[in-house]
Amino acid sequence: MERILITGGLGFIGINLAQYFADKGNYVICIDNLSRPGPNFIKSLQNLIRKGNVFNINNVDSSKIPFNLRFLSQNYPQVKIYLENLCNSIEIKRIITSEKPTVIIHAAGQTSAVDSILNPFIDFQDNVIGLINTLEAVRQCSHPPIFLFLSTNKVYGTKINQSLIREDQVRYTLIDPPNGFTELFGIDHTKHTPYGVSKLAGDLYVQEYCRTYRIPAGIFRMSCIYGPQQFGFEGQGWISHLVIQALLNKPITIFGNGKQVRDLLYISDLISLVDHFINHVKSNYSQFRSNFSIEPLIFNVGGGLTNSVSLREVLDIISRDLNKPLHIDYNSTRDGDQKVYISDISKVSRVLDWKPQISPKKGIHNVIEWTKAHLGLFQ
Ligand SMILES: NC(=O)c1ccc[n+]([C@@H]2O[C@H](COP(=O)([O-])OP(=O)(O)OC[C@H]3O[C@@H](n4cnc5c(N)ncnc54)[C@H](O)[C@@H]3O)[C@@H](O)[C@H]2O)c1
Repeated sequence: MERILITGGLGFIGINLAQYFADKGNYVICIDNLSRPGPNFIKSLQNLIRKGNVFNINNVDSSKIPFNLRFLSQNYPQVKIYLENLCNSIEIKRIITSEKPTVIIHAAGQTSAVDSILNPFIDFQDNVIGLINTLEAVRQCSHPPIFLFLSTNKVYGTKINQSLIREDQVRYTLIDPPNGFTELFGIDHTKHTPYGVSKLAGDLYVQEYCRTYRIPAGIFRMSCIYGPQQFGFEGQGWISHLVIQALLNKPITIFGNGKQVRDLLYISDLISLVDHFINHVKSNYSQFRSNFSIEPLIFNVGGGLTNSVSLREVLDIISRDLNKPLHIDYNSTRDGDQKVYISDISKVSRVLDWKPQISPKKGIHNVIEWTKAHLGLFQ
C-alpha cells in the first residue's frame, strides 16, 4: 500500500487519480484550494477553507459545496482532503511532514493559457510558487517520496508551427516529424503564453531538484487529457466544453479554422500510465538515491498519432453521437495556439511498457454519457 498525496486532488485529473488509487486500497491525501471548483461554486464558500484542517463534510451543508468536493467526501470518506493553498509554505510543509507520503502527484495548477494572458501573476503563483513550496517540503524528507509533475506540451510553444504541416480538408497533417514531437524538441525562441512559461519553469525546477537532491522524479509533458468529471470551459478542457455546449444546444465558437490537431488521451489511459510510472520508479528507487548522474524521467504523454484528431473531426464525432447538427461560429485564431500537436509516445511506451487503449470515438462517447447524467450541474 502506498501513501499517495495528490495536489490539485479536486480537479479533473486529480479526482480521477484519487478514486483509482483509493479503490486499489492505497491511503490517499488530496490538497486543493478550490480555485477551479467547477459549476455551482459560490465564492463565499471559500470560507470552507479552514487553514490546515482536514475537510469534514459533516460540518457543512453539503448541498452548497462544489461537486468534486462533495463527490469525493461522500463516496470516498477514507480519502483525506486538505483545503489548502500550495502558496502557504508553512502549511504545505506541515502536511507533508505529518502525512509522510511515499508518492506525490503534482496535479495542482492554474491550467488555462487564456487566463494566464489575462492574469500572469496568479498563473505564476499557482504554477511556480505552489510547486516550489511542495518541492522544498519534499527535499527535507529523509526518505523523499516519488514525485510526478504533470507538465504540458505548451513548454514547446508555437515553434511547433514551423514544422512541415500540410493543410487538408478537415485537418492539418504533420509531415515532418512524421510520428509527432519528441522530448528533444527545442524550447527557445518560441511563443509559450505565460502558462507555457510557468509550466516550463516548473518542469525545469523538477529536473533540478531531481539531479541536485536526488529526488526520484518524473515529468509528463501532456497533450490533451479528457474524460468524465472535467468541467471544461472555453479557455480549458475543450472536449468537455464542446460536449456541454452541444448538449445544452448552445453555440460553439471555434477559434481559427478548426483544422488544429491534438492527440487525445483518455483519462483511464493516463491513470494506467501513472501506475506504471510509480511501479517503475519504485523498483529503481535506490538507484535514484545513490547515483549522482541520475536524470529525471521526462516523457511526452498523449494519445499519439493513432489518437490524433482535428477540432472539426471532434465536432463530427459529437454530432454523430448525438444525432443532431451543432451550432458552430468561427472566430480568429487565439494567440499562442499550436496548429498541430502530436506527442511522439515511443519513449514513454518503451520505458514504461504502456500504450493507450481508448479511441477518441469511445472516449468522447463516455464524456457525453457522463455529461448527460450530470447535465443539471451545467444549466
Ligand atoms: N487536462 C489537460 O488536458 C492537461 C494537459 C496538459 C497538462 N495538464 C496539467 O495537469 C494538471 C492537472 O490538470 P487538470 O485538467 O486536472 O486541471 P484542473 O484545473 O481541473 O485541476 C487543477 C486543480 O488545482 C487546484 N489548484 C490550483 N492552484 C492551486 C493552489 N495554489 N493550491 C492548491 N490547489 C490549487 C485547482 O483548484 C484545481 O482543482 C495541471 O497542472 C495542468 O497544467 C493538464
